[in-house]
Amino acid sequence: MCGIFGYCNFLIEKSRGEIIDTLVEGLQTLGYKGYDSSGISIQGDELGSLNIYKQTGKVCNLKEEIALRSPNRDLPFITHCGIAHTRWATHGEVKRANCHPHNSDPSNQFVVIHNGVITNFNDLRVLLASKGHVFKSDTDTECIPKLFKHIYDISIQLGYNLDFHELTNLVLKELKGSYGLLCTSSHFPDEVIAARKGSPLAIGVKSKAKLKVDFVEVEYLDKKENYIDINMTSDRSNCSAGTSVEYDVCLRKSPPLRSRCLTDPSYDEDVFSTDHASSRELLSEGELPQPIEFYLSSDSSSLVQYTNKVLYLEDDDIAHIYDGEVHIHRSRNDHSDLPFRTIQTIESELLLLEKGSYDNSMQKEIYEQPETTENVMRGRIDVSTNRVILGGLEHWMFELRRARRIIMIACSASYHACLATRAIFEELTEKPIDVELASDFIDRSCCVFRDDVCIFVSQSGETTDTICALNYCLKKDAITVGVVNTAGSSISRFTHCGVHINAGPEKGATSTKSYTSQYIALVMIALCLSEDTASQIERRKEIIQGLTLIPKQIEEVFRLESAIIDLCDNELQDQESVLVLGRGFQYASALEGASKMKEVAYVHSEGVLAGELKHGVLALVDEVLPIIAFATRDSLFPKVVSSIEQIIARKGNPIIICNQGDKIWEQKKLQRNFVTLEVPQTVGCLQGVLNIIPLQLISYWLAVKRGIDVDSPTEPAKTATVQ
Ligand code: G6P
Repeated sequence: MCGIFGYCNFLIEKSRGEIIDTLVEGLQTLGYKGYDSSGISIQGDELGSLNIYKQTGKVCNLKEEIALRSPNRDLPFITHCGIAHTRWATHGEVKRANCHPHNSDPSNQFVVIHNGVITNFNDLRVLLASKGHVFKSDTDTECIPKLFKHIYDISIQLGYNLDFHELTNLVLKELKGSYGLLCTSSHFPDEVIAARKGSPLAIGVKSKAKLKVDFVEVEYLDKKENYIDINMTSDRSNCSAGTSVEYDVCLRKSPPLRSRCLTDPSYDEDVFSTDHASSRELLSEGELPQPIEFYLSSDSSSLVQYTNKVLYLEDDDIAHIYDGEVHIHRSRNDHSDLPFRTIQTIESELLLLEKGSYDNSMQKEIYEQPETTENVMRGRIDVSTNRVILGGLEHWMFELRRARRIIMIACSASYHACLATRAIFEELTEKPIDVELASDFIDRSCCVFRDDVCIFVSQSGETTDTICALNYCLKKDAITVGVVNTAGSSISRFTHCGVHINAGPEKGATSTKSYTSQYIALVMIALCLSEDTASQIERRKEIIQGLTLIPKQIEEVFRLESAIIDLCDNELQDQESVLVLGRGFQYASALEGASKMKEVAYVHSEGVLAGELKHGVLALVDEVLPIIAFATRDSLFPKVVSSIEQIIARKGNPIIICNQGDKIWEQKKLQRNFVTLEVPQTVGCLQGVLNIIPLQLISYWLAVKRGIDVDSPTEPAKTATVQ
């Protein structure tokens, strides 16, 4: 998925070569999200001018493109702002013209990179084209730099001297949809704008000196808006008296904003007082500006290699970086917003991101699961008292237990984790439990009530559909709970309460360790909610004991790896399609397993509910089609065995995931030989944590054997930032 990266050095000399390398390195860190092209923009040879380099394909193609155009790498810059982007095509095919950065005009007066989707881009495009702007791409993004230039030109003609953020505010008011964007301009050399709405953006701060403050005060633009009115698309009669009717953009005649800000006594003393202003000067000692670097990214985990001081932007924030300072502006003050943004210290160690002795991140993350499943339970389970303590939910327990209904909402693997735990939620809480795919939930505008508890599950905490569903439920006054891996992410910040799964950064293109930790976190929530139900005491004890054994049992599952490599070399190597069969708790395993095959190994795969086998699926069974079946012991085991018998009777090709030492399969193998993969047995509702691991390994090894770069796939979207 698209990735944004930016780098600004202030009073620190860097050669152009070093700046290019930093930007390219930033893009490589974001590469695991999947992308199809990349690009950067840096200062040109002339003071203030901007150069753009972009290319389709991997970042190495971009490097070649830059080398071909041979910019002077030795040119020194004491202060500089560069921006970079990896694109994952949404509007317009994969071609050079569609790569970011996009520009306002051939002289690159405004240069923009953007994640998200501008939904009114067609209207803006028509309007801007009618004003003489020439579009070179099919993207929604290109209307943004053109809009910057259009409004900038008009403001200059009218004698205004807008700041970069004031101009940005006018531009953003015209955009509908979602964005995380960076903009640089030849009119504002060494300045960068970062803005977000529904798409994540974080700013890393690095300096040798200690930061003077650990927050940045928000500066509100509301009063300034009294002096500016912009009306791009609607009827000009909307513009009030005194506007210039010669332009679609109407600027009220008033003194230039800067002078007005400084002199008008009606401005809010609080907002403009010296104390608050100083919070943006993160370092200044008296009057002396200090060297400082800023790293901007759509994924804060890509910042940890540079700094652990990170500030997360909120929706509608406009961050303006210049002269070694960060200013955060908002166009409205609804008083419910926090008036500052904290500079947080991110805990994650760089080491956690490195591949170590593993070949790639996906392999590393699969093998981290004994540790990550331990971490999600650490300090939260007390076996002696049969209790689960989740600090993040403690103060909300009364409301959560009183819920009339629980709705779990998520996408992809996170959704499968909800599905996997629905039955145990129903059993322990005795409440109706709905499990919803976030996009479908929004499309249907589901009924949500005040006494509903809505649980949002997301590894990244930034998946757009899940965030939209969260906003929807917040408007309905429901109680919202986040189950996320990324501290500081939107979902962790906007939900009322929640549980961090503590799996550490997940860089692999698809969820592996997060899935098993989400699964366990959800089981722990169900255990917490049922703590006051006397009839569940024994069942809770059984599950809690089962949980404590999981990390060791996962290690046992890893012993299957050589059998799995054989399976990939033989039965699965040339297959175009694989069915994955499961029932009860294992239906979610079947869906998740099939999804891994598609995402990582690019093999068509379908998760099938064993109970539905007779409704059409049996027609597909033949000697060739591999059918992976989950047949571990639980109350539905006899039914699953019967489904497998139907497959064998049709000379099908089952691959059975069963419990260690289960004799039943020896007999069946006499009828027709097939592969079995034996996993340890645990409580039925936890078995899915162990069962999914062979499927993760199968997808992984199939991908490797097919020559797929599992950490840099073309399609999977780690953080789905578009709807
Ligand atoms: C992408 C990933 C999946 C992940 C999904 C939801 O599609 O490839 O593995 O489950 O996004 O992401 P989230 O961060 O919300 O869990």
